[in-house]
Amino acid sequence: MHLFRAALIVSVSLVGLSANTLVGIPTFNNFTVASTTPFLLSSVTSVLVDTRFQDSVDLNGETLIPPTLLAFAQTFTSDLLELGLPTIPVHVAGSAQPDSIFLTISTDGDFLDAAGRNTSEGYTLTIGEQGIVIAGASPLGVFWGTRTLIQQAKLGGLQLPVGSGSDSPGWSTRGVMLDTGRHYYPPGFLVEICAYLSFFKQNTFHLHLSDNLFNNVDIYSRERSLDLYAAFRLNSDDPAVAGLVRPYRLNESYTRETFDDIQSSCAARGVTIIPEIEAPGHALVISQWKPELGLADLSLLNISHPDTIPTMEAIWRTFLPWFHSKSVHIGADEYDSSLANDYILFVNTLSSFIGSSGKNIRIWGTNEPSNTSTVSRNITIQHWEFFEDNPFDLIKEGYTVVNSDDSFYIVNKFSGSYPQTLNITRIFEGNPAGGAWAPYVFDTSNATNNPPRSDPRVLGQIAALWNDYGENATTVSEAYYAWRDGLPALADKQWGGVLTRAQYDAIFDDMHSIIPGQNLDRAVASKTDVILQYNFDAGDGETITDSSGNGYDGTCHACSISDGVISLSSASSRLTTPLSSKGRNYTLSLFINPSSQTPVGATILSGADSALVLGNGTLPSLALVSGNQAYALNYTLPRDVWTTLDLIGRGNATFLRADDGPEMQFLTVLGINGVSFEWEPIAVEAPVAQIGGDGFIGRIAKFQLLGSA
Ligand SMILES: *[C@@H]1O[C@H](CO)[C@@H](O)[C@H](O)[C@H]1NC(C)=O
Ligand SMILES: *[C@@H]1O[C@H](CO)[C@@H](O)[C@H](O)[C@H]1NC(C)=O
Ligand SMILES: *[C@@H]1O[C@H](CO)[C@@H](O)[C@H](O)[C@H]1NC(C)=O
Ligand SMILES: *[C@@H]1O[C@H](CO)[C@@H](O)[C@H](O)[C@H]1NC(C)=O
Ligand SMILES: *[C@@H]1O[C@H](CO)[C@@H](O)[C@H](O)[C@H]1NC(C)=O
Ligand SMILES: *[C@@H]1O[C@H](CO)[C@@H](O)[C@H](O)[C@H]1NC(C)=O
Ligand SMILES: *[C@@H]1O[C@H](CO)[C@@H](O)[C@H](O)[C@H]1NC(C)=O
Ligand SMILES: *[C@@H]1O[C@H](CO)[C@@H](O)[C@H](O)[C@H]1NC(C)=O
Ligand SMILES: *[C@@H]1O[C@H](CO)[C@@H](O)[C@H](O)[C@H]1NC(C)=O
Ligand SMILES: *[C@@H]1O[C@H](CO)[C@@H](O)[C@H](O)[C@H]1NC(C)=O
Ligand SMILES: *[C@@H]1O[C@H](CO)[C@@H](O)[C@H](O)[C@H]1NC(C)=O
Ligand SMILES: *[C@@H]1O[C@H](CO)[C@@H](O)[C@H](O)[C@H]1NC(C)=O
Repeated sequence: MHLFRAALIVSVSLVGLSANTLVGIPTFNNFTVASTTPFLLSSVTSVLVDTRFQDSVDLNGETLIPPTLLAFAQTFTSDLLELGLPTIPVHVAGSAQPDSIFLTISTDGDFLDAAGRNTSEGYTLTIGEQGIVIAGASPLGVFWGTRTLIQQAKLGGLQLPVGSGSDSPGWSTRGVMLDTGRHYYPPGFLVEICAYLSFFKQNTFHLHLSDNLFNNVDIYSRERSLDLYAAFRLNSDDPAVAGLVRPYRLNESYTRETFDDIQSSCAARGVTIIPEIEAPGHALVISQWKPELGLADLSLLNISHPDTIPTMEAIWRTFLPWFHSKSVHIGADEYDSSLANDYILFVNTLSSFIGSSGKNIRIWGTNEPSNTSTVSRNITIQHWEFFEDNPFDLIKEGYTVVNSDDSFYIVNKFSGSYPQTLNITRIFEGNPAGGAWAPYVFDTSNATNNPPRSDPRVLGQIAALWNDYGENATTVSEAYYAWRDGLPALADKQWGGVLTRAQYDAIFDDMHSIIPGQNLDRAVASKTDVILQYNFDAGDGETITDSSGNGYDGTCHACSISDGVISLSSASSRLTTPLSSKGRNYTLSLFINPSSQTPVGATILSGADSALVLGNGTLPSLALVSGNQAYALNYTLPRDVWTTLDLIGRGNATFLRADDGPEMQFLTVLGINGVSFEWEPIAVEAPVAQIGGDGFIGRIAKFQLLGSA
């Protein structure tokens, strides 16, 4: 009998003992198999939370809002639905029982990090013949153990190897940074990214909350700088910061309530939001608000101005109560090195100010040559480039360091210097001393620059994704796609896993298919490649029958059907579907006859992520709208005649074909620092929630959504 896939368990030799590696993302390195008969997860009838610890929380992590063991247990049971299991109840109980998963806190057993210190994120997993016990160093450790369980159950077809072992992360900081300053991301997207991180045991989501496009002082006038794209994403009605978020950008900022929701939703899956407000460089949004605070280059604050530090303190005083993390990031990147002493004064003053609230401070490693002062050693340096600092030297000087070396930088969509996706080869081979990359590897080509693996001053890694070319370079989901295929591999290395490239490639799709709490792919369940098909030849006039076999019937509002055609005869006529959005890949086809009564700019199709519109408001060119941008074709859909349209999402590009003509590609035009333009593909989800409803008057037939392109 084939008990479990042989590839899942790999024998490894550890010093003096033998243990097995359970292949997962990350790997579970220390599992000892006790029986050849597997345990069937489908035999589990309850999840039991140890009565003694149901209200326990992990106080050692970065979050100030840690979930209880009971709360994590509830998240876990809802996640089990991803495996196709029926709903399993959660109970509290004094001890493990047959056919249950018992979640408890380990009172013995050391869970050690790479530096040999106790970590609250470790756990033991014991799979017996009758039931399972996960004992964590804390509730968070238990939650990570449940990730291992779900992954192994998927890979084993619900069969789990009987045995036990313990597991703990090598580093306490594991995650990513997203540049939300130069591109707005809706709250729901950030929460879905947290779910993505969490499934691979990443615990940190650093949000860069303010920034501006590069202020090219060589060619921009002061007026142009004052008008350049710059944003501050936190929106408080406190008079101290009135006007900091410009009125037209209030809808692209987070209120306290929204930011609380983001933080608590992420914390529920073990992910802490680390907020960053950037100054005294990358601070154009502040000098657009108070121009007197800027230097000649308005993106740099004049620290000698008597109001600069008080202004930054007022900002932090306003927002510190919003932040539920022990650490905050004050930016401090790329300032004028001729003003090094001002810079250091700024950093240390803000550090004391914020430090008095009990928070730890992080800054970007920045080369500020001064003979007289240094930044305080209780500030954590987030290293990003060797021309700015030498992280090993900083460690020797007594600083703690987060590894954000730009060997894993991504600049979304286009860059003269950085890639657009994570370099997976570098993840698996990037240690210059041999083998895989790990968080203590700052330099991927020169081992002399890397401290030992066990150095306690390396906190971990935060891989950064930047939006140098702003809002219109990318859609929201293109940030996800930049990470999608490589980030889980990096998560393995951030944890201290030993996954090989071949193993990763073999299990990625299975792992990706069950990540709870998100549908970033905007996948739609379907029996065949035909996801939805409306022939408009059946239905009662209100219900539109889906002939795909998936039952995605639509509803007609103020419209009529006859002979395979649906007529939308008033501006509010519409057809709604039970779907919303379809991600890569898709072909959305329809036969369409817009009436000349339809105004320019009316919406043909809309969904959660996008819309297809008949003009951008001024020109009649057909356009796809995503976020706050319209991407227009040089094509106008004719009125009062029938045209077949195929909207095609293929990989990272989007096309439209009319009447079997050539595919026309939707492109975005990036402005490169005021110097040049760059035309790039844009990947937009298919809008499939609604036809019409916003001015469209006309007829439609043969509406079909395929899952391929
Ligand atoms: C870890 O914690 C345990 C229990 O609190 C303690 O006995 C042990 O000495 C600690 N180990 C280290 C390396 O600090
Ligand atoms: C597995 O056990 C070995 C030996 O005890 C230890 O060095 C290693 O850190 C452990 N790995 C994990 C991920 O716990
Ligand atoms: C910075 O502020 C100081 C104090 O107000 C002022 O003397 C100085 O001219 C300012 N520097 C610039 C470049 O504006
Ligand atoms: C760091 O040390 C400085 C003194 O050097 C102190 O003012 C500040 O409050 C400390 N910050 C933290 C976060 O402990
Ligand atoms: C888009 O996909 C193509 C083909 O797969 C690839 O060559 C290109 O680098 C991708 N572009 C971006 C910005 O990812
Ligand atoms: C990926 O990383 C490897 C190893 O560091 C390097 O040799 C290769 O050039 C990188 N690929 C790209 C496209 O940058
Ligand atoms: C490697 O780094 C060390 C320490 O920074 C430096 O002295 C040495 O020149 C570097 N080697 C190469 C080949 O760049
Ligand atoms: C429509 O597109 C044209 C050409 O790109 C542009 O000049 C115009 O400002 C756009 N209108 C709107 C409302 O975006
Ligand atoms: C925010 O409002 C502006 C101005 O009304 C609009 O152009 C933009 O599309 C809106 N942004 C979002 C994300 O809805
Ligand atoms: C748009 O297409 C028309 C004809 O189809 C052509 O004459 C015109 O030059 C095109 N405009 C652009 C900006 O490509
Ligand atoms: C989408 O199409 C692209 C280009 O043909 C292909 O590389 C990619 O694997 C497809 N993606 C899916 C999810 O089928
Ligand atoms: C996109 O934004 C840039 C500014 O970053 C601007 O130069 C460019 O014209 C914009 N593209 C479109 C199509 O609006």
